[in-house]
Order: sequence, then structure tokens, then C-alpha cells
Amino acid sequence: MSGQTPKSSTIDTVLEEQRVFNPPERIKETAHIRSYEEYKELYDYSIKEPEAFWAKQAELVDWIKPFKKVYEGDLVEGEHKWYLGGKLNVSANCIDRHINTWRKNKAAIIWQGEKRDETRVLTYNELYNQVCRVANTLKKWGVNKGDRVALYMPMIPELAITMLACSRIGAIHNVVFGGFSADSLRDRINDSGARILITADAGFRRGAYIPLKDNADKALEGCPGVHTCIVVKHTGADINFWTQRDKWWHHEINSPDISSVCPPEAMDSEDPLFILYTSGSTGKPKGVMHTTGGYLVYTSLTMKYIFDLKEEDTFWCTADSGWITGHSYVIYGPLALGATTLMYEGLHNYPNPDRLWQVIEKYRVSIFYTAPTIIRGLMKEDEEWVKKHDLSSLRLLGTVGEPINPEAWVWYHKVVGNEKCAIVDTYWQTETGGVIITPLPGAIPTKPGSAAMPFFGIEPAIVDSNGEECDSKDGGSLIIKRPWPGLMRGVYNAPDRFRETYLTMYPGNYFTGDGARVDEDGYYWLLGRVDDVLNVSGHRLSTAEIESALVSHNKVAEAAVVGYPHDIKGEGIYAYVLLKNNAKASSELRAQLGQHVRKVIGPVASPDKIHIVEQLPKTRSGKIMRRILRKIASGEFEQLGDTSTLSNPESVDELIKTREE
Ligand code: PRX
Repeated sequence: MSGQTPKSSTIDTVLEEQRVFNPPERIKETAHIRSYEEYKELYDYSIKEPEAFWAKQAELVDWIKPFKKVYEGDLVEGEHKWYLGGKLNVSANCIDRHINTWRKNKAAIIWQGEKRDETRVLTYNELYNQVCRVANTLKKWGVNKGDRVALYMPMIPELAITMLACSRIGAIHNVVFGGFSADSLRDRINDSGARILITADAGFRRGAYIPLKDNADKALEGCPGVHTCIVVKHTGADINFWTQRDKWWHHEINSPDISSVCPPEAMDSEDPLFILYTSGSTGKPKGVMHTTGGYLVYTSLTMKYIFDLKEEDTFWCTADSGWITGHSYVIYGPLALGATTLMYEGLHNYPNPDRLWQVIEKYRVSIFYTAPTIIRGLMKEDEEWVKKHDLSSLRLLGTVGEPINPEAWVWYHKVVGNEKCAIVDTYWQTETGGVIITPLPGAIPTKPGSAAMPFFGIEPAIVDSNGEECDSKDGGSLIIKRPWPGLMRGVYNAPDRFRETYLTMYPGNYFTGDGARVDEDGYYWLLGRVDDVLNVSGHRLSTAEIESALVSHNKVAEAAVVGYPHDIKGEGIYAYVLLKNNAKASSELRAQLGQHVRKVIGPVASPDKIHIVEQLPKTRSGKIMRRILRKIASGEFEQLGDTSTLSNPESVDELIKTREE
């Protein structure tokens, strides 16, 4: 862990922001929670009477067998359990309970492909049939309760269907983002011990193919445990097909021996639901594990109150389901509440910068949830791209993934929301299962750049580097003082890693890894990571992971990776690279190194700048001084601080002179 000083460039702007926006009247009139007082009363109750509060919220979910105890455990040992003794099934909650009502023929998933004319609508009843067929197919290929299933898919309905099918039979899904490389996929499959992979021939990106099956083939060369690979025919791209291992999805699920009925497995509340790998401050991604009962209650509750979800809403979260946002708020949250969720395969600016606005107009989307990086990218374009579309269906706008700079917030409010929509800047993490700090749209006035206040049951605090609660106005590290149902249960395959990574820094508390401050009105302002995790376009990457990818290149001796402020991406990746003796710096080599990182991790991790250096600034004990590297990458040469403790102080001037602009 490096120092406790937040690195984000947003700090300067958020410190100056003073504006306050009250909830729009039309939202206030109909919202689930309509005043600050109502929020505060329920919040205080959730903290004072957690057992009663969480017992009541569990009514959002259908239980096969009622739970006996609401929770047990704490954040000292890290063992926390929720809804003990309860039995339920997530897919039954997301599907079966709706098909016995008028929702049977309601659109569950509206899918929009990258091509304008590629659309599909699945009603809850259709979703039921498909999920049962896939669940039975998985069983046929040997998947039992507790087995892991790896998914490597584009944003198509089959991804949601497979996740739900896994949950139906009690299998644990492990979705790997389609933008990750074959190597990353291989490691995640092996760590999870999955024996079956579901993929597609390819995905689309800017009209070209993303070769998912080719990548899967390469990955599976290193996965001896995988016996079956089921392939969705999505693009029609040419692929290799090894009939002993590969099966076509459409053949399998429509095979005469596959029934369209599959009774849901009664799962224990604490049975794992999924694993999702995410980067921390070490080089090895962690398999964050979420379980059944607590996760479903928490995603349902946050979905209802934060997005103020109503029966007639069309909800669109643009996140890929390879990330936690796409798990909780494209699939589980909306479907558990019987909503219509929109799934989109494609980019926000292809073929034109009005793609998102055109989709909102087409489906009359009422709640729209995206990332600040996308907003920043689109606000650079002519406003006419937005104005030419009728966005009057919008009621609520959300953001997630990184701090939003007030300029982008105000543009979102004025230009996209036409000053009529509520905005929720939602702060959370893969580990937290759902949103933990946020405004409530009808109740909490918003301040651009602030994620506002803790959600029900969440008790945050700001601590200094000694772990003492400090004057939160000055800022410090953000911790959460008690568990809640959506908090991860553990790191898959590494029983001690949950406690060691998150609970030992400030014993008895969950450490988020983020810096924050709280203003005089009790609003939280997130200030960026305080550890060696980067947030690039809302994607979480560890500097250690990128460094080890660089060092695995045969010409690289040493690498140090830091973030620097980037107008669109939030943070850009700046890599300092020291070559082996006989290697020569050249632009070809730089390009090769970029390619190498893409191959090892994936395109998301490709450095924006590669600075080939003669030496790295090190302390006398041989530790790289990252603080100085960050300042140089950001162009802040005046604030380098004390360099006298370096063993090679001359390296600093050299780095400044040769810095990559
Ligand atoms: O640094 C915080 C940032 O994203 C990190 C979590 O990344 P990940 O697990 O990939 O989940 C992203 C989506 C939930 C956090 O540690 N972050 C997320 N939301 C916000 C944010 N930073 C500031 N404001 C937010 N609203």
C-alpha cells in the first residue's frame, strides 16, 4: 500500500464546487422516498436496529424457506453471514415469480445490437423458457450445484440467460469481460476451477469482430480442466470448431432431450452465487465472491430506492456485464424487481456520437445509468447530437465508476436531462455488491461531484493513516464500520485474502481503498484511490498487474506504472520502462510493448504513454519512489517533495527532461 494521499485530479475541482440542486418536483411527488427527513429517519433506524431493518427488507425477495436469523459475524474475523437458514433461488426471483402475474408477457430484456436493425425483445415468459433450457443443457454437460461455469461473451441476451441458468441450478458463474485477453481468461478459468466455458463466435466493436472464440481457443490450451465449450452463433464469424469439445448453443438448447422446464434449486442463503475477478494492489486479480440471499436483497433494495424504479420504467445501464455494474444493475437488480432492462452491445460513439441518445429515444428509456468517462467523451461533441433527439422520456440519470467532475455533472443535468431529471452519482465497488454512497433521487439534494450520503445500513467513516477517525472535512481513507448483506463474503480459493486485504489495515473495518472527505452538510466527496489501483475509463486496473505484464517482455528489465490525469479517461496509464542491457529504445519497441500488454491483460490495460528510461528513482533501500513518478507523469514538477532520500537523485531531472508528453 502506498501513502494515504488521494491521487485524483478531481480534487481541485470538487473542493471548489458549491452548487446545490434540489430534487425536481416531479420526482419528489412520486419517489419511493420523498424527503430528506424520511431518508434520515429510515437511515438512522437501519443503523440503530439493523436486525429489524434487514429482516424487513428481505421481504423484497421470495424465500423458499424462511431464514432463522438475520445476520451473524463481524468485520474483525471477516466472517459475516446473512439470512441464515433461509432458502431461495435467484433465477426464480428474477423470473418465475413474475410469470405468474400479468408480467408474464412484459418485456424483461430489450436487446439492441451494434447494428441499428438488430434488436430482440424477451418477455419474462420467453426468458423463463430459455433459462430453463440452458439450465438443463448445463446439467446435461455435467454441471452440478456448486460447480463453476466460466462465461466470456459479448453483451447479448445469452449472457444474461446463462447467468440466470447457472443461478437456477446452483452453479457459480464467473463472467470474464470480453475485452480481456486469452491469457487473462485462462488464469481466471483456472483459478475458479471451471470445467465448462460459454462463449460466442465473436462480438462486434466498431463494425469489426472481437474474436472471442479465437481467444477462448488460445485460453483453453492452458486449461486442461475444461471439457466443454458452448458457443453462441452471434456474428457468423469464421471460427475453429473442435467437435469433441465445442458445442453450438442453438443445437444444444433445442435438442429434443432438453426440456423447457427446470425446477429451481433451493439454495442456502449463503451459497455462492458468483465470482468476479477484480484488480487490487497486487498483481494477481482476486475472485470476489458474492452469495445468494444477501446479494439479492441488497441489489433489489438499492435498485428500488436509488433508481426509484417503477413498474413502467425502461431501465438502461450501459455497463458491460463483465463488470459488477452489469451484474447488479443490468441483470439481477432490474429483473428481481420485474423491470424492463435494456442490454446494449456496442459503443457510445459508434457509428456517431448520438448513438446513446438515439437508443434512449427509440425505446423511451426513463432511467439511464452510465460512466463519467462516457459523459466526458460525449460532451466534447457538438450539443446538436443530443438536441436532435427527443429525450423527454428520461426521469433519472445515474453515474458510476469514478468521481464525476462538476463540469460533466452539470452538462449531464442541463443538456441530457434538460434540467428536469434527478442525477444520482453512485459510489460502490465490485466488493460491495451494490451502491453504498449515493443521493436518493426524491429526497437528497445533490451537489455536482459529490456522491452524497450513505445508503441504508452503511456506516462509513474517514480515518487518518493511523486509523484514527479524523476531521472528515480534511479528508482521509474511507472505511465502512459494519458489514451489510451485499458485502463480498470472501476471495475465491484464498480463504485469508478477504481479511488480509480489506480488514487488517483498519482492524474491524472494511477499507475501501478510496480517499474521501465529508463536507459540513454530511456529503461525501470521493477523491480517488489511495492504493496502487488505477481507474481508467471506469475500468479498474492494478499498476502491479501492468508492470508484471511489461516485465514479462523479453527486452524489459524493470517497469513502474502510474496514473496521470486524463481528460476523457479520468486516469491514463503512464509506464516507465527500463530495458535490458542489449535492448535499444525505439518507437517500434514502444509499440511492441503496448501490444504485449494488450496480449497479456487486454486492450483496456494498454499504456497511454511508455517512457523508456535509463534509471528509476529509488530509495536507499531500493524501493521505487512512485510518488515522484506520479508527479512527473502529471507534469507537476514543482511539487516533487523531498528527493534527498533517493539513492540516485540525478534520475529525477533526467526523467523530467525525457518525459513523454
Ligand atoms: O475508486 C472507486 C471507483 O471505482 C472503484 C471500484 O471499481 P470497481 O470495483 O470496478 O467497481 C466499479 C463500479 C461499481 C472504487 O473503489 N468508483 C466507483 N464509483 C465511484 C467511484 N469513485 C468515485 N465516485 C463514484 N461514484
